Amino acid sequence: MARLSALLLALTAAAVSVSAKPIVTVRDAPVTLAIARRFNTTGVANLLKADQARATVLKARSQASAASANVLDAAAAAADVGVPVTNGAVVYTASVGVGSPATSYDLIIDTGSSNTWIGAGKSYVKTSTSVDTGSRVAVTYGSGSFSGEEYTDTVTIGSLVIEKQGVGVASRSSGFSGYDGILGIGPVDLTDGTTSSGGEIPTVVNAAFAAGSIDANLIGISFEPTTSLSVTNGELMFGGVDTTKYTGALTYVPITSTYPASAYVGIDQSITYGSSGTNILSSTAGITDTGTTLILLASDALARYQRATGAVLDNNTGLLRITTAQFASLQSLFFHIGDTTYEFTPNAQIWPRSLNTAIGGSASSIYLITADLGTNSGEGLDFINGYTFLERFYYVYDSANSQVGFATTSFTNATTN
Ligand SMILES: *[C@@H]1O[C@H](CO)[C@@H](O)[C@H](O)[C@H]1NC(C)=O
Ligand SMILES: *[C@@H]1O[C@H](CO)[C@@H](O)[C@H](O)[C@H]1NC(C)=O
Ligand SMILES: *[C@@H]1O[C@H](CO)[C@@H](O)[C@H](O)[C@H]1NC(C)=O
Repeated sequence: MARLSALLLALTAAAVSVSAKPIVTVRDAPVTLAIARRFNTTGVANLLKADQARATVLKARSQASAASANVLDAAAAAADVGVPVTNGAVVYTASVGVGSPATSYDLIIDTGSSNTWIGAGKSYVKTSTSVDTGSRVAVTYGSGSFSGEEYTDTVTIGSLVIEKQGVGVASRSSGFSGYDGILGIGPVDLTDGTTSSGGEIPTVVNAAFAAGSIDANLIGISFEPTTSLSVTNGELMFGGVDTTKYTGALTYVPITSTYPASAYVGIDQSITYGSSGTNILSSTAGITDTGTTLILLASDALARYQRATGAVLDNNTGLLRITTAQFASLQSLFFHIGDTTYEFTPNAQIWPRSLNTAIGGSASSIYLITADLGTNSGEGLDFINGYTFLERFYYVYDSANSQVGFATTSFTNATTN
């Protein structure tokens, strides 16, 4: 009966809207882009160090750009951070066209930064659509940096063609060997102060929305757990969410108001462990980030997790390690985000065992993917829910409404690790 009334209501609503608005416009379907996961087994000594270096820069960079919107100051602030430049261990890339005719570039997908740039690998191929803005551009990441000249050009993402998109062209870059640059899809404010002319550079999502090419200023991101080093199993949807990629309800929470997490795709969350609800992390601000591999928790929270699990710190990988017996009794972590609790199963908490040796571990050990952020909680960015979290939950960044959505997927409870 309830279903019938809902159906009738839907039909009535449709009839009303049809009669009020006789011209039915067929909206463009959202545009999807396949994301490949690439694992660099040679470039990175330590998975954790790469993630911690990124965390340090994320915290410092938002402070630097708040203090001064100036490229040179940003570069100086980056130098102050003094983190080692190393290729990210795990990166997610997609093929993006620039110019007309387009040359395709293999770009790293990043919700933790917002400039789109090329030239790290393949050189810029200029065409009649390429315009030099006369501005210098520079950005520093935990995994490297680039500087060069800001252009506008036609950018092609799947069937989406974005004209006059701001594109940085690197004359110098480090830490991105093997890739061509970055597709920055985080908050547009992060572009503020990255060019010598000042102001913001709309991201590809902002620009496509402003041009009416997509219906909503949001992106939906789907990852899946994998036991392969390199695989194309992710999907980035521009302007919509892919309802085939999640189960149950998609629930949104506002971007946190706590700085510096508020500068990114930041949220408030608390974490408990097991059926007894042991507190691991009291409600605090942190970020979601496709550019971080692990789940990083403030040192005090990680210590509580280590006590709860009985794990020991593994010298070779920098990760926590548990025995087979401890794994057998490992309980779920519960991420409380808004009014929803997301269960993160024991299997989700371990690094895929078939990839242990790829991170310098031993094939017979069991490593935990929740690791040390490197600073205590209370600094306004107390966790990073990286890729290992996002491969268990569908993820939506709705920049128009400053909110973030999550949903369970058919991989939430996967036991593939
Ligand atoms: C891996 O990293 C090393 C060192 O940073 C780099 O030279 C190499 O090109 C990278 N390989 C891939 C496939 O990304
Ligand atoms: C780990 O490294 C520390 C310092 O280098 C050393 O004292 C300790 O014995 C090592 N632990 C193991 C289990 O190898
Ligand atoms: C995962 O497993 C838990 C506990 O068994 C269950 O409550 C939950 O509904 C499952 N989630 C999904 C998305 O299948």
